[in-house]
Amino acid sequence: MNLEITNRILVNETYRKELDTLRKLEKDRIFCGHDIEHFLDVARITMIICTEKGIDVMPDLIYSASLLHDIGRSKEYTENIPHHMAGKETAEKILDEVSCDDGMKKQILSLILNHRNQQNEKDSLESIFYTADKKSRLCFACASRNICNWQEERKNIKIEV
Ligand SMILES: [Fe+2]
Repeated sequence: MNLEITNRILVNETYRKELDTLRKLEKDRIFCGHDIEHFLDVARITMIICTEKGIDVMPDLIYSASLLHDIGRSKEYTENIPHHMAGKETAEKILDEVSCDDGMKKQILSLILNHRNQQNEKDSLESIFYTADKKSRLCFACASRNICNWQEERKNIKIEV
């Protein structure tokens, strides 16, 4: 499987610095973290949903978008910029640094910008990516579940396939 851009992102210096900053900022966070495990969960769940729906997607696009989708979190904590918007800016810089082509870059940035959008078109990749991001959360095993500000009906209280 060709994950060329994904693996370039993984070793990109800007990406690693942003992730390191985010890791430090979330050190004492009691709610869901935004780490490499979360990013890979989102990628894998997106791939599963696409397979189930018979949607042919490029894995490199999905894994790259997943690695980058929460990269704006540190700016949300420090500068109060919504992380999908801050993340789009940072991701654009990283994607240029890893020589991602314009077509793929545009799709990745759309996934990042819309990963919190509840109004995505049904069965669009943006909508599937949104769902995967939410489904990746292990609310049923979370010690902070009762004080989390997610609406009760949105929490994952059962394991689903
Ligand atoms: Fe996320």
